[in-house]
Amino acid sequence: MLRRVAANVAVNSWKGNIFELDHKLIMARQLHARRIEGIDKNIWVDFTQLAADYKVVNLGQGFPDFSPPSYIQEALCKAVNGGCSMHQYTHAFGHPPLVSILAKFFGRVVGHEIDAFEDILVTVGAYQALFCTFQALVDEEDEVIIIEPFFDCYQPMVKMAGGKGVYVPLRPRVEGGKALTSADWVLSSEELASKFNPRTKAIVINTPNNPLGKVYKREELQVIADLCIKHDVVCISDEVYEWLTYDGAKHVKIASLPGMWERTVTIGSGGKSFSATGWKVGWAIGAGPIVKHLKTVHQNSVYHCATAAQEAVAQGFQREYELFGTPESYFLQLPEMLNQKRKKLATCLESVGLQPILPEGGYFMISDISSLKVDLNDPSTQDEPHDYRFVKWLIKEKGLATIPVSAFYSPEHRKDFQNYIRFCFVKEDSTLNAAEDILRKWSDLK
Ligand SMILES: Cc1ncc(COP(=O)(O)O)c(C=O)c1O
Repeated sequence: MLRRVAANVAVNSWKGNIFELDHKLIMARQLHARRIEGIDKNIWVDFTQLAADYKVVNLGQGFPDFSPPSYIQEALCKAVNGGCSMHQYTHAFGHPPLVSILAKFFGRVVGHEIDAFEDILVTVGAYQALFCTFQALVDEEDEVIIIEPFFDCYQPMVKMAGGKGVYVPLRPRVEGGKALTSADWVLSSEELASKFNPRTKAIVINTPNNPLGKVYKREELQVIADLCIKHDVVCISDEVYEWLTYDGAKHVKIASLPGMWERTVTIGSGGKSFSATGWKVGWAIGAGPIVKHLKTVHQNSVYHCATAAQEAVAQGFQREYELFGTPESYFLQLPEMLNQKRKKLATCLESVGLQPILPEGGYFMISDISSLKVDLNDPSTQDEPHDYRFVKWLIKEKGLATIPVSAFYSPEHRKDFQNYIRFCFVKEDSTLNAAEDILRKWSDLK
């Protein structure tokens, strides 16, 4: 086909109307695969670019604007200076020191023996672990239940695998007032049960949840587990924020519930665990007979992840294994530090009339914008959901970046949830202070 285009270029150049005819020739053949239709828009690409264009105070994308703990930076330097093997390929499914310590560490947490070489796949961030999971387990026509709000990539990944997303929203329970914390957002067991049928292959949960911060209680997980067992369905449990819980909320791994180890793929992230999101080291952990299929996708796509970063994450987990539960553990220090930031942001949002939903976990807080009267008169955004328009206005007019929450919903439910925006609080206090200044100045003008 390229040869045909090249030949045409020569003829058309001579004719002097190259662009018009070439355009027709290229369009005569559909270039893209149908499975990527309708998923070309990406919230992170669009809003990260917008935030960069306007040089804003950025509480948008979920990454720390402070450094990882020094011991893990040193571990990376040591790995990079550690000789030839650190710069070459390692084991395709995970650097042996990393899978060994992950097996030891999570075996203790989940209460089940984990085989380092059978039950774990190391990936390019949790993102690739999710991609391998959907590609490996979801077939054409399979249904995948996704609980809303959900980390946005689940939907396109299910579609690319040929499956169909079936959505169940967490709904704010508003008896006797407003939903004040993420614990007030609940699933209806009846609604959830009604979505299971013989085509259901998997359900995706995310605890602590992005963007809401909900930490599922054991009883809530048990309802999901019972349905998975009853209908022989796999549970994909995205737990990248597992260390970040507040006010006594306790993270429970659904894989630890009776009968669930055999049917759960648990997704984790070294980037989120050690505040080093740029390293992109993630993993999927589950029973060998499931994980072997994820490995098939991995070996035929990425094959292998950066050795030195895996070595550093292995050192980080080794340290955490030894310090687990002690005040020196980063997995305790990080949530303690973030809890202060969470309270600071909540107080600020409350005082300017942006009613926050206090998260029980994770590093995001959503806020209700329905009572705000803002003249969103930008005609270029008039066909977009209210929260998209609001966030674009906030970026352009006030210099503060956040993320519209309807991006975490399916097209069928998006319109019911366009009155929330998401703030990220894994930021330096100076960044949070700058955001607070913007919000206070704006509220003084109102
Ligand atoms: C819920 C959730 N899952 C997965 C990821 C991806 O993690 P990673 O950076 O390790 O690919 C993110 C990133 O923000 C996330 O919020």
